Amino acid sequence: MCVESFPMKVYLETLGCQMNRLDSELVATTLRRAGHEMTDDPKTADAVLYNTCSVRRHAENKVYSRIGAHGQRKKAGVKVILGVLGCMAQREGQALHRRYPQVDLICAPGQLGGLAEMLDQAAIGQFALALDPARGESRDLGSEADMDRMDFTRDPHATPHSAQAFVRVTRGCDNFCTYCIVPFVRGPERSRDPQQILEEVRRLTDAGRSEITLLGQTVNRYRWQNGETTVRFSDLLARISDTPGLRRLRFVTSHPLDFGNDVLEAMRDLSNVCEYIHCPAQSGSDAVLARMNRKYTRAQYDDLVDRTRSIVPGVVLAGDFIVGFPGETEDDHEASADLIRRSGYKNSFVFKYSPRPGTAAAKRFADDVPLPVKKRRNNELLAVQEQVGLAHHRGYVGRCVEVLVEGPSPRADKLQGPAPDGTAQLVGRTRGDHIVVFDAPADLAGRYANVRITDATSLTLFGELSK
Ligand code: SAH
Ligand code: SF4
Ligand code: F3S
Repeated sequence: MCVESFPMKVYLETLGCQMNRLDSELVATTLRRAGHEMTDDPKTADAVLYNTCSVRRHAENKVYSRIGAHGQRKKAGVKVILGVLGCMAQREGQALHRRYPQVDLICAPGQLGGLAEMLDQAAIGQFALALDPARGESRDLGSEADMDRMDFTRDPHATPHSAQAFVRVTRGCDNFCTYCIVPFVRGPERSRDPQQILEEVRRLTDAGRSEITLLGQTVNRYRWQNGETTVRFSDLLARISDTPGLRRLRFVTSHPLDFGNDVLEAMRDLSNVCEYIHCPAQSGSDAVLARMNRKYTRAQYDDLVDRTRSIVPGVVLAGDFIVGFPGETEDDHEASADLIRRSGYKNSFVFKYSPRPGTAAAKRFADDVPLPVKKRRNNELLAVQEQVGLAHHRGYVGRCVEVLVEGPSPRADKLQGPAPDGTAQLVGRTRGDHIVVFDAPADLAGRYANVRITDATSLTLFGELSK
């Protein structure tokens, strides 16, 4: 359909993981190229778009309440296009529109390349819907190519941070952990062509982005096969690490099952690959891991931590845990606490189990751990992590670390600008992903600095600029 295009002011809010943050960046570029303007103010926007997450009920509830509020505004006569993008769009599809007729546009993650045309359609009062094929349905090669095109034709200057960029290397997931919605909303696992990834990284580094984070739901499963040639994740790291101007190469999120020694050795041998691994365990109990379909045992995870520490000097680990998974006993819970102590994580994200419609866990198991027990276990794991994190961070006091400066610290933001001598409280990240707060000239943002660490809490290092 050919519809006339009206320039609009578009407000885009992102919920969810780094994949969604990257998608939003690409969407903003696509919309700007179509003549629209991005705005930070939803009240004056012609279109309000939410790029959504379905991973837990809580993330979805935030969006329902925003949709409800816009419904009120529309009833009161405000003319605004309301759009839902991303994982919730795919999970709910047409049903979302039936329940909330104020939603004008629903666009799944794999259809974002057509968003500008969908906005034009919504602008003339037609409901616009674009969904990805459900799992098991055949996928159209053309729309796969469209997805890759969005990444490949991105504007390297449009990253939210002047020195950092995300680069997608895999899409989707085939692991089917029983609790997880991602394989249903993001589709099957696919690896991108390494040549395209390399060119994308080169354009980003040419534009001054010196820290690249490779993204995938299970990024270390990356594998590209073309005739006789196979590119494994470790090979991809080696090829990318040669890019001129690339000072730091990171990757998230890793699956414990896919950490061959080749990846760990690549981390050790390639000087710009950062010694940081976010490798969620989810539970420390074999019984729970089996019901989660994580495909590894506690002993295998322990072995991974030991191998990682012996091969990659100074490696920093971060984890994810789910508390209150169906059938989780106090002993299972204690096993997770024990795993946190044993692994010595820098930080862990702890989530209360949230049944997701259509997943194997929601179909097979009753959500039988009561909410107060989930809350207690959540707090207990966080308390253990706090002790472990404090010991980890204290180990850096007295040392000098290299920091990529991100900008003013959240507290300095409230102080409204630098002191009269031009210094400000800044925040940056080490290669190991530690947060470092220190005073320095405000114009250091986007650059690298050496900081001597003087103090530490369970989540933050504090220091002084090293001369
Ligand atoms: N691809 C990544 C992360 C996926 S979602 C991985 O495989 O590790 C991010 C985190 O959300 C997961 O690590 C898990 O800890 C949590 N999560 C996923 N589904 C959940 C659910 N149904 N309830 C609670 N937490 C969940
Ligand atoms: Fe979800 Fe498991 Fe895939 Fe991670 S590996 S995205 S937790 S199904
Ligand atoms: Fe959420 Fe989708 Fe990411 S469900 S965690 S935004 S892939």
